[in-house]
Amino acid sequence: MENTIKRSFSAIQPSGTITLGNYLGAIRNWVKLQDEFDCIFAIADLHTITVRQEPALLRSHSIELLAMLLAAGINPEKSLLFCQSHVHQHAELAWVLNCYTQMGELSRMTQFKDKSAKHANNINAGLFIYPTLMAADILLYKADIVPVGEDQKQHLELSRDIANRFNNTYSETFVVPEPYIVKSGGRVMSLQNPTSKMSKSDENTNGFIALTDSKDVIMRKFRRAVTDSETVIEYREGKDGINNLLNIYSAVTGKTVEEAVKEFEGKGYGEFKPAVGEAVAAHLKPIQEKYNDYMKNKDYIVSVYTKSAEIASKIAESTLRKVYKKVGFLQKP
Ligand code: TYM
Repeated sequence: MENTIKRSFSAIQPSGTITLGNYLGAIRNWVKLQDEFDCIFAIADLHTITVRQEPALLRSHSIELLAMLLAAGINPEKSLLFCQSHVHQHAELAWVLNCYTQMGELSRMTQFKDKSAKHANNINAGLFIYPTLMAADILLYKADIVPVGEDQKQHLELSRDIANRFNNTYSETFVVPEPYIVKSGGRVMSLQNPTSKMSKSDENTNGFIALTDSKDVIMRKFRRAVTDSETVIEYREGKDGINNLLNIYSAVTGKTVEEAVKEFEGKGYGEFKPAVGEAVAAHLKPIQEKYNDYMKNKDYIVSVYTKSAEIASKIAESTLRKVYKKVGFLQKP
């Protein structure tokens, strides 16, 4: 019988703080998808060095991220969770895909433009070909869906284009992946500048909630959240700050935005903002407790990523061999 369980692949960079944006846009959905899909998750450390990193910090960020993913509910009995750099096929397929991707396509990527502006003294080639490595991550595992936040949509579209191009040039090789982006939480905005996305690299730490922030810090950041000069809590265009808070509230409580608006009818921002903070802190509390436990058990974390990488590497190798054959390389002795 044909295997009908579909596969999901996603990855996250160990580039420091893990934010509420990462959690609501991606991680939380990864956890849910484990019931329905064959899930593969990677720590995208190869991507992270496109921006200069302190080696010791990169190592600790990777462990912290693995601990956080386990704490959030990634279950290694069901899913694979490994480091991208431990499965050499990612870099190898990326090389091949680079040869099937145009400079023009890569230069249109908004993330490349943003990051080159931000790191003007280090616009390295890796930053430019970042999306082909992402395509390799996904295509190696023949993933049907890729759960990501809205900001990764353009990269996903390029991955689809590359897959289609390769399939059309040779023959059906890759599964063309579908993005999986949730409505509430797919784009969490900065608490200080609600027209730009919540980002861990925001210099103003009040703009983002780190998953490890204490309740006091969370409450303070929500109280200071930038809203507007009106007084009504409504979801509509022009109310970016309030819309963002409503989305966050909805995502962590499971209530719809309409229900949330009703709940706060007649109430002011002074009551609404701390209520969102309370809801977020309550949602994160059990995750933070588990995170602290996992951080005391690094051997377990190492065993998870080691086992997963071995299995992932086998799946990846089978795809890579097919690709090498199709492009005309001699069979490996
Ligand atoms: P990264 O590490 O920047 O983010 C990890 C995930 O979090 C989502 N995200 C958000 N979602 C909603 N609101 C926000 N403010 C927000 N900020 C981040 C991202 O969309 C992402 O899903 N290039 C990727 C990592 C990657 C990858 C892949 C993803 C490497 N290979 C293959 C999918 C498939 C990245 O930098 O994500």
